[in-house]
Amino acid sequence: MAFELTWHGHASFGMDIAGIRVLLDPFLSGSPTAMVQADEVAADYIIVSHGHGDHIGDTVAIAKRTGAMVISNHEIVGWLGSQGVTNTHPQHIGGGFAYPFGYLKLTIAVHGSALPDGSDGGNPAGVLITTQNHKVYFACDTGLFYSMKLYGDEGLDLAILPIGDNFTMGPDDALRAVKLLRPRVVIPVHFGTWELIAQDPYAWAERVKAETDAQPVVLAPGGTYTL
Ligand code: NI
Ligand code: MN
Repeated sequence: MAFELTWHGHASFGMDIAGIRVLLDPFLSGSPTAMVQADEVAADYIIVSHGHGDHIGDTVAIAKRTGAMVISNHEIVGWLGSQGVTNTHPQHIGGGFAYPFGYLKLTIAVHGSALPDGSDGGNPAGVLITTQNHKVYFACDTGLFYSMKLYGDEGLDLAILPIGDNFTMGPDDALRAVKLLRPRVVIPVHFGTWELIAQDPYAWAERVKAETDAQPVVLAPGGTYTL
């Protein structure tokens, strides 16, 4: 079963999982690095990791245009309802649900989750997607935490980790995260969008190669990777 990821810049991904189109954190119209427009991107499902504007992004507009089902925590799903988005599925951390594209579990993230209007966005989450033959972990916005080792114990094909520092893990802690997660492949994100989170992903990739068994893949915005 094919699993193709397209990086839309920052922490935003489009996935094609056996023909089902899944968006994660579609921050497009305000993003300096997005290569796709919110009014043209396709979606059957939209996953929102937490309430911050650089993650919930264009979710409301895309959900209304496409009718895509939005998957997020209970609080964010409630807020989306107040914005007129009703095709939703609430989950919460530690819980998983089997969707047509795979089993999606919300995982721990150490971060905030306030919504753009100040509403309570509950607790932030990471995302673990298990398909017939792949397991992919998006740490989303988080600091390093030791329980990443437990997600690694599940056997990860791919981990997507923030390296930007300041708001999330920086390069040093992201390298420690790779050692806890032990993925086959790792992709760095949440860097370079603004000067505040500027990093050299190629220098980080060299450290990953030197110190772990994981294969680092550095994407440019708009770039794709197929599992
Ligand atoms: Ni955030
Ligand atoms: Mn963020």
